[in-house]
Amino acid sequence: MIENLSEIRQEYTKFSLDINDVHSSPFHQFKDWFHIAIKSDLFYDPTAFNLSTCGLDMQPSSRIVLLKSFDENGFQFFTNYSSEKGKDLTENPHASMLFFWDKQERQVRINGSVEKLTPKESDNYFNSRPYDSKIGAIASNQSSPLSSKKEIESKIIELKAKYPDNPPRPLDWGGYIIKPTAFEFWQGRESRLHDRIKYQLISDNWEIERLYP
Ligand SMILES: Cc1cc2nc3c(=O)[nH]c(=O)nc-3n(C[C@H](O)[C@H](O)[C@H](O)COP(=O)(O)O)c2cc1C
Repeated sequence: MIENLSEIRQEYTKFSLDINDVHSSPFHQFKDWFHIAIKSDLFYDPTAFNLSTCGLDMQPSSRIVLLKSFDENGFQFFTNYSSEKGKDLTENPHASMLFFWDKQERQVRINGSVEKLTPKESDNYFNSRPYDSKIGAIASNQSSPLSSKKEIESKIIELKAKYPDNPPRPLDWGGYIIKPTAFEFWQGRESRLHDRIKYQLISDNWEIERLYP
């Protein structure tokens, strides 16, 4: 079965990105672009990003997760520590993040080392979630085989009876922080001559360079 997609062809022309215009801090640059994506109101969820991990099997694996906060210490997301990504991160605590904000014709790529948040930080976020999301997090052995939908539905009924309010955070559910060592800001341009600016953390300084498209 061949699907020929060569006629789907977009030109990228909206913005440009020059090395003389970027912030010296990649976190500030990220913040600017992130706020533009949020304010444009064009995305259902601009906090969604692709997270790629790779365990000792050397098989890269990608999935979407939601960014829950960021500052100069790093980027935080929450998940199940026993999931496939959790296992990968135990074996190899490095990850690659990718945001694609297509309405602005932009992608941001961030690589870094990954650490678990403290139990208190995970508790704080868990406790801020809606009741049903808390119950769902307890009920789900994320990424393990599920024999039938009924199995998880029965678990949820039992958990709701057990915890009519304030379900506790399961110990295998919590947050991670990705501490960046490299960022790349990509701005789509005419005729595929895209602008790419890379930041690399070298001896505690962010070094900035242009890349060929
Ligand atoms: C829009 C969107 C947001 C998601 N947000 C999260 C999230 O914040 N945390 C999470 O664990 N999974 C999230 N998921 C589900 C993951 O993509 C994935 O299915 C799940 O985490 C299991 O991944 P794993 O088996 O690779 O560990 C989200 C999926 C989508 C499409």
